[in-house]
Amino acid sequence: MEKARKTRHLVVDPRQPDVALIKEAGAILREGGLVAFPTETVYGLGANALDARAVTGIFEAKGRPADNPLIVHIDSLRTLGRYVYKVPPVVSRLASRFWPGPLTLVLRGGHVFHPVVTGGLDTVAVRVPAHPVALELIRAAGVPVAAPSANVSGRPSPTTAAHVLEDLSGKIALVLDGGPSGLGVESTVLDISGDCPVILRPGGTILRDLEEVLGPVEVDPAVNASAVDGGCPRSPGMKYAHYAPRATLILFDGHDQRRVVAAVLAEARRFAAGGHKVGIFTYSETASLYDGKGYSVIVAGQRSEPGTVAALLYESLRRFDCLDVDVILAEGMTPDGLGMAVMNRLRRASGGHVVTI
Ligand code: TXA
Ligand code: MG
Repeated sequence: MEKARKTRHLVVDPRQPDVALIKEAGAILREGGLVAFPTETVYGLGANALDARAVTGIFEAKGRPADNPLIVHIDSLRTLGRYVYKVPPVVSRLASRFWPGPLTLVLRGGHVFHPVVTGGLDTVAVRVPAHPVALELIRAAGVPVAAPSANVSGRPSPTTAAHVLEDLSGKIALVLDGGPSGLGVESTVLDISGDCPVILRPGGTILRDLEEVLGPVEVDPAVNASAVDGGCPRSPGMKYAHYAPRATLILFDGHDQRRVVAAVLAEARRFAAGGHKVGIFTYSETASLYDGKGYSVIVAGQRSEPGTVAALLYESLRRFDCLDVDVILAEGMTPDGLGMAVMNRLRRASGGHVVTI
């Protein structure tokens, strides 16, 4: 096995990225190295998308299943024409509203990319990230950048450089630290390769906004499934357990919040009586209901403001690891707006342990 190298950790000011430093990081990418970098969603682990060997390195560093394709990051819609045969008009409409931004488009073509990038599919996923460091890095590299989230496969995605180092220290050349990523959940993956646009993974661009541009948009049934329950989802990533903290997470899903809290409390008492250390994932509206009971409570934002929950979601799941709990009881939220992405990630983190109230 290759001897672990030290991962360099360089701080970059997103408002004024240091040109020399970004150039150096771009050269590392172009020459086949792996660089983690901030985006507006989560941190990405980048490699030159035109270099199959470099891209293979991503799969090795993350322990990612080989059939799970990567998103290719480019700096603008203009660049896209170099990599797909034909840019359909719908792409221009979507790009003018949502790029740069948290929207990944699954397009036909993309045969210039090695199957290691596309998972051997006849489509390719592309996005233009809305983060100055990411954009400058792609420009400095001068090549399209394949980048999954910069976590060990299956773990919560990283929203800080510290999370990246927790998972990948010694396995990658460099992490550019641009502070916390703002949104906290990944991009929405929208498949526009067929007749009707389909959301394969909900994320930072919400359904309502997409429908304003496109009219009705379908949501792939795998989005609301409780993880690995067989079948063949259109987005290969959806079939793997994901985003999971070390302890088992049980998701309590229901409209009536009082009943949800009552169910969580009953279950918490049962686990505590059995000698287990209980973690509770809740929101500011209901957090005080768990006071003084000895549980490890993490408040992941406000239920009524799904953006605050999205921003704290992965950080909260990682914090449970430090608290060393045996089980996490998580309250669900309404799957509206960014809540759809949050609920998708919680369901998948639960690996199918969902209690419907
Ligand atoms: O916000 C994001 O999208 C972040 C940042 C770093 O850009 N990236 C990210 O990548 O979340 P990753 O690899 O963790 O997730 C990519 C998802 C996977 O579910 C994968 O299966 C799906 O996109 N995907 C990629 N190419 C696809 C394709 N051709 N068809 C269907 N799904 C595809
Ligand atoms: Mg990921």
